[in-house]
Amino acid sequence: MKKRIFSGAQPTGQLHIGNYLGALKNWVALQDEYESFYCIVNLHAITLPQNPKVLRQKTLDLARIYLAAGIDPEKSTIFIQSDVPEHAELTWILSCIARMGELERMTQYKDKGKGNSERAGVGLFTYPVLMASDILLYQTDLVPVGQDQKQHLELTRDLAERFNRDFGETFTIPEPFIPPVGANILSLQEPTKKMSKSDENANGSIFLLDDADTITKKIKRAVTDSGTEINFDDSRPAIKNLLTIFQLLTGKSASECETHFAGKGYGHFKTELAETVVEFLRPFQDRVKEFDDAALDAILKPGAEKARSIASDTLKSVYKKVGIA
Ligand code: AMP
Ligand code: TRP
Repeated sequence: MKKRIFSGAQPTGQLHIGNYLGALKNWVALQDEYESFYCIVNLHAITLPQNPKVLRQKTLDLARIYLAAGIDPEKSTIFIQSDVPEHAELTWILSCIARMGELERMTQYKDKGKGNSERAGVGLFTYPVLMASDILLYQTDLVPVGQDQKQHLELTRDLAERFNRDFGETFTIPEPFIPPVGANILSLQEPTKKMSKSDENANGSIFLLDDADTITKKIKRAVTDSGTEINFDDSRPAIKNLLTIFQLLTGKSASECETHFAGKGYGHFKTELAETVVEFLRPFQDRVKEFDDAALDAILKPGAEKARSIASDTLKSVYKKVGIA
């Protein structure tokens, strides 16, 4: 039997090249070897205020992005989180074994809650428990995510181990899959911070749906480090970040990239990088337009049914173990 993958992204903001290189690209690469579940996590999205109409639209748009990126519905299950109510149900059970202290340590909560626990939503606080439920419902072996989700994965493992210890073997303990290169693509404007959907400065991120002009401008404006060489050097994070994007999109090795730009200046490098990104995103953007709402429905409905058949088995066994059914 194939091992199982679960991963997801939130239908908020606009997906950027960091989401693609850190997560989606690996989802696509792993779907042959694993039985994969790729979820659009709309319940996570409402942990921060969303416009309902926009949220509904973005949920479908994200399905289009998964498909355009190369997730094949013949191989992988694509579904919307809220179509499988077991996600919310398991969250309640796991909330009863999760501890305040461990959730308070989550850096994403501290960042998104802006350190103000009086004002932060309770959903933002329990967000990682919902994420653990997503993963554990499918008896997941591997969770491909970017670096920023590592802490949530550790919490998921802790909750699964605690439940198994207290109630008997129930959940598979999942492993994170964090790619060695590309797990933390940085902002083009502030290369000490990750590229982020919620960054107020849109120039920091290359969005997957940006047009060619915008991409070229953003890359030209990207901050660089002192010095002139185009190489992978930890003390020069801006150039390293840009070169990482080039490396992952071209499939070249690190040393091939360095040789390729040896003796060339920043101007030349940025022009070539912009062309590479534009050429990569062009066919992707064409594919996004291929899926109308009916085509999506024909993928998402059976996706939810398949997901639900597995999730409901796990939930039944959980209810039995805790003495509820
Ligand atoms: P999100 O957009 O927060 O739902 O994230 C979707 C996926 O993209 C998650 O697996 C994140 O870890 C990953 N991700 C988000 N930002 C970055 C980034 N700057 N670099 C690499 N991966 C990222
Ligand atoms: N929290 C993840 C993020 O913001 C999204 C997510 C929700 C997820 N549930 C998941 C990722 C389960 C992997 C597995 O990026």
